[in-house]
Amino acid sequence: MSISSQPDRIIIFDTTLRDGEQSPGATLNVDEKLTIARQLARLGVDVIEAGFPFASPGDFEAVNKIAQHVGTVDGPIICGLARATQQDIKTAAEALQPAAHPRIHTFIATSDIHLEYKLKKTRAEVLEIAPEMVAYAKSFVDDVEFSPEDAGRSDPEFLYEMLERVIAAGATTVNIPDTVGYLTPGEFGALIRGIKENVRNIDQAVISVHGHNDLGLAVANFLEAAKNGARQLECTINGIGERAGNAALEELVMALHVRRQYFNPFFGRPVDSEEPLTRIDTRQIYKTSRMVSNLTGMLVQPNKAIVGANAFAHESGIHQDGVLKHKLTYEIMDAQSIGLNDNQIVLGKHSGRNAFRTRLKELGFELSDQEINRAFLRFKELGDKKKEITDWDLEAIVNDEIQQTPELFHLEHVQVSCGDKARPTATVTICTPDGNELTDAAIGTGPVDAVYKAINRVVDVPNQLVEFAVQSVTEGLDAIGEVTIRLRYEDRIFSGHAANTDVIVASAQAYINALNRIYAALQRGKSLHPQRDTEAVSVAR
Ligand code: KIV
Ligand code: ZN
Repeated sequence: MSISSQPDRIIIFDTTLRDGEQSPGATLNVDEKLTIARQLARLGVDVIEAGFPFASPGDFEAVNKIAQHVGTVDGPIICGLARATQQDIKTAAEALQPAAHPRIHTFIATSDIHLEYKLKKTRAEVLEIAPEMVAYAKSFVDDVEFSPEDAGRSDPEFLYEMLERVIAAGATTVNIPDTVGYLTPGEFGALIRGIKENVRNIDQAVISVHGHNDLGLAVANFLEAAKNGARQLECTINGIGERAGNAALEELVMALHVRRQYFNPFFGRPVDSEEPLTRIDTRQIYKTSRMVSNLTGMLVQPNKAIVGANAFAHESGIHQDGVLKHKLTYEIMDAQSIGLNDNQIVLGKHSGRNAFRTRLKELGFELSDQEINRAFLRFKELGDKKKEITDWDLEAIVNDEIQQTPELFHLEHVQVSCGDKARPTATVTICTPDGNELTDAAIGTGPVDAVYKAINRVVDVPNQLVEFAVQSVTEGLDAIGEVTIRLRYEDRIFSGHAANTDVIVASAQAYINALNRIYAALQRGKSLHPQRDTEAVSVAR
């Protein structure tokens, strides 16, 4: 059955790889995007918005690979974003070609402020362009989504007219974006109700919502929209995205899950129906959150709902006492329901390659033989330092391997001497992209500063360190430390991430990882931004 014919449940449209990746510093390479897309499919999202194929050859390749490897017959819909231009739409169609269920998502702004200052077009002009482009997209795929950008600040009467025309032209989903996160829940609910009541052919399309979190209201807005007839929610893992981010998938899904008795009647179900309102496998939520945070370098705040480190920690004495007497006194959901306790101790120093490979497969990693070999070496090194190796340790090693870009700079060796009476001194050996091995040394204010200064003497990419964070993967003194950094290069932010039982080594690798991202971006050239770049300039593919 097609998802549009199931109005009594919510369609989860994940845009982590498109709108999420638009957040400063969250840029992902093709392998990282593919890894996340595979995990999103395991999580059970209905639609993966895999990117904006016209942006650059790299974006095209990522959407194309996701379409090929994740967009299988039993897999999710793979969606590509396109501005309302023929070039964008044609490129999206080409990138999506291998997908069993492709969707083109095209958009044009409809608010007067966007029309006047961004597009420099009249209402009449966009009213003509949008249906024409929807029909053009329809000539490639059956499944076409249309978004009137900045719908939240558009004149509702104009919006109704626009929606009626794009549905008549073949749009199967109409998405209502609160692009600047301006609306309040009551207003968003009323907007959706108004669309249901005033767009004559609305029964021929699914109503979707998309929203940013500038006022911290995105999730509340979506839930109100769902109560009023929205059936697709566009969201991202950990709520990452432009500025304050998008509506967080895990918050929406768990709200609909934990409070299903409240939401059921809005979906025409009996109050006590136990049937889930989404198709998400909630036990995959925590793992997906960790993966997205590690690969994008966007850290999750400890008090973040559902996936923050404190979300299930009952530290106050009173709370612990209450929880022990009866869990429900202070807990509305179980840590297990999001897969938080699924961190098994699985392997040890003597575990062999087969056990290692099998467990990685069970965890959902699909690695090439070469990647398995590299990860296995890391696993053996870890086994010498850490007695018990858990699933999260394995994930940290594998995510770390995915992030290495062998053809760019590679840290061969790092050595530090420091102490309260010593001047912190670091020596590094780095393999450069043209195959040279260069060694240099530097003195710093601390060991990390010394390492970064030594690396800067070899890798000449001027930058400013804007964030440095260390977290441990598991408890215990022998735990792996994960280092996440953010660098400013000109007007852009790049992140780096690495994991190692030695935090100085992890710091050095995270820095090299971020420098490699800058270096790769310089080689790739500029990617177009779908919402800010309005010119249909052609990017060579
Ligand atoms: O925020 C927004 O309006 C968007 C559109 C492209 C859907 O991301
Ligand atoms: Zn957006």
